[in-house]
Amino acid sequence: MADRDEQEDESGLAFETRAIRAGQDADPASGAVVTPITLSTTFAQHAVGEHQGYEYSRSGNPTRAALEACLASLERAEHGLAFSSGLAAEDNILRLLRPGEGVLLGHDAYGGTYRLIASVYGPAGHPYRVADLTDLRALRADWPADVAMVWIETPTNPLLACVDIEALAELAHAHGALVVVDNTFATPYLQQPLPLGADLVVHSATKYLGGHSDVVGGFVAVDDDALADGLRFTQNAAGAVPSPFDCYLVLRGVKTLAVRMDRHCANARAVVDLLVGHPAVERVLYPQLPDHPGHAAAARQMRDFGGMVSFLLQGGEGAALAVVERTELFTLAESLGAVESLIEHPGRMTHVSVAGSALEVPGSLVRLSVGLEAATDLVADLRQALDSL
Ligand SMILES: Cc1ncc(COP(=O)(O)O)c(C=O)c1O
Repeated sequence: MADRDEQEDESGLAFETRAIRAGQDADPASGAVVTPITLSTTFAQHAVGEHQGYEYSRSGNPTRAALEACLASLERAEHGLAFSSGLAAEDNILRLLRPGEGVLLGHDAYGGTYRLIASVYGPAGHPYRVADLTDLRALRADWPADVAMVWIETPTNPLLACVDIEALAELAHAHGALVVVDNTFATPYLQQPLPLGADLVVHSATKYLGGHSDVVGGFVAVDDDALADGLRFTQNAAGAVPSPFDCYLVLRGVKTLAVRMDRHCANARAVVDLLVGHPAVERVLYPQLPDHPGHAAAARQMRDFGGMVSFLLQGGEGAALAVVERTELFTLAESLGAVESLIEHPGRMTHVSVAGSALEVPGSLVRLSVGLEAATDLVADLRQALDSL
């Protein structure tokens, strides 16, 4: 797994330190240690066009600037841009496509990403192709035409497949395509796609970055100046920016990202131990398991294996629907990545929009977002639900 020391950047400061400090110097006006929530929509100018860096809050806002600097530092990126949701961030990236240019999407991905690419950008003249992005041999042999952008999720939502970012980025670049990595499941603490060759990193900040199920947000990290200029132009022109309060909530969440992720991973391992030995479970999908097809890629490019666990039940969809209703601590709800544990049925909930497509998920699948409650309580809760089948 990636060595902890590799997580330092040129500032010489480790990830945990940057999460708390980057972009968050004490406020020069008051000395406030916590980044103020600047609600002002407009900013005084000394003379026309002469100001302190801010004119109007859609174009730029001090609280948002602090968040963008912090998250860019965590992704080891030159530039960071915050958005009002993960999908708004994705939309901003997809607007980089020129007329006729298409997208290559993995055959397992968040349903909303598929919906945006297939049902919004498809009809607007951007063809999309779906492929198994873990099958580099097939992609090498038959690279799809018209692909200007490769959209990688790793680990994927909900099957937790892991794509070799470095190898696929090399192949995509040889074909002149940009590489986007949705790093929502891993977070920059566990995986940093830009140094591995990705061009753009996108996040649903609603998940682990916020970490407390109380803010919807999105983020894009990028190194290339021209790409950043294009994104910043659309961020302002289309205007899907987060509120200053939402930026504050994500900044506050990120301060504890490292300690939260360590515990998410440890709790996930405890849950996986229960699931692999349980007779009601057909298969456990977790990248740490040696028989997981993405294990080698995950071990190479991730610091640890994350807090998301999926599993298939022997009893098919009926058993999956029963289990998600019978847990008590694992709350039946969409979303993921926060302190409380959640359970869901992707086929009927988060991934309804992929039904009938190449991304359709099995009915016997259950997805867990393993939270920060005591592992013993989480394991006991799941055990009673599984034993009841
Ligand atoms: C992997 C992934 N990417 C993107 C999104 C979209 O983010 P948001 O819901 O913040 O728009 C989600 C939402 O669940 C997701 O799971």
